[in-house]
Amino acid sequence: MSHADAEVATKRREELGSERDAARAELIAGLSRPQPSIAPKYFYDALGSKLFEAICELDEYYLTRTEAAIFAQHAAAIADSVGVGATLIDLGAGNCAKAAGLFHVLQPQAYIPVDISEEFLHRAVEGLKKSYPHIPMHPVALDFSDFLHLPAYVQERRKKLFFYPGSSLGNFTPLQAAQFLTRIRAACGGDGTLLLGIDLVKPAEELEAAYDDALGVTAAFNLNALRHINLLLGSDFLLRDWQHKALFNAAQSRVEMYLRARRDLTVTWPGGARAFGQGTAIHTENSYKYSCAAILDLLRQSGFGEARCWSDAEGRYLVCHARAT
Ligand code: TRP
Repeated sequence: MSHADAEVATKRREELGSERDAARAELIAGLSRPQPSIAPKYFYDALGSKLFEAICELDEYYLTRTEAAIFAQHAAAIADSVGVGATLIDLGAGNCAKAAGLFHVLQPQAYIPVDISEEFLHRAVEGLKKSYPHIPMHPVALDFSDFLHLPAYVQERRKKLFFYPGSSLGNFTPLQAAQFLTRIRAACGGDGTLLLGIDLVKPAEELEAAYDDALGVTAAFNLNALRHINLLLGSDFLLRDWQHKALFNAAQSRVEMYLRARRDLTVTWPGGARAFGQGTAIHTENSYKYSCAAILDLLRQSGFGEARCWSDAEGRYLVCHARAT
């Protein structure tokens, strides 16, 4: 290793170390609050990404299936709106299956999948490259929930198409969602656009079933955050002591996800501890449900004044292609 390489390696190690310290501090702060919480990004380690894939296969979780059906049914209109030859930037790509399903319609010039789960992402892209050798692919491992720091070679590309499916926008509060869309708007430049998939509000029973399935996969997904945190923080959460809970809060139009203590217990980690009384709930995720009008409003507020939308026959889910104004 050259001197310069060694310096780069040391710097990267320091960065990783300080990232880990920052994650620990954030986790401890969340767990120590009167109303404890865990940031949703901790769902997505390698196992969490696989469990999320399984969620998408569940009967109760209509979102993925309905979104795919909208893409299939309105493929021609969506292609007409988007145009071919864009640089497809897939935000939260996961296994890349959703974007890959659109390759034949959109014929992207390049594919840039972005995801927080690095190992999972790279494995997915290696598989995809074999099926689509003619599409250049540049995976970017990034947590874009706070900032959208795309590498310069991505930022410089013309005709960017930001792809944000899976109702992930609903995992932000409406205010954060507007901020996030504004960041995408800025990254669009003059000729970029956004293809968004978002879940629509519907009766509480349907929503709660989608987030608390009979097989218990969503429960496993939620609980896996504790397993992941034990690894990151050195804490001693016992998964059996916690119960998955999903509740639709109609006033806020969001499904709230919690992990509830089944008994009085104490969780410890190096340098700290917290007692949780039976029934204490750690908040892990919100999934906001929008009306069509509310989404168009949010897009307009964020600088996307022109949008075309498609829905399924039952009006369960919405796909929008938005242009910056
Ligand atoms: N974006 C997905 C959604 O809100 C994420 C998700 C699905 C999720 N099921 C979950 C997050 C269960 C936490 C717990 O639908």
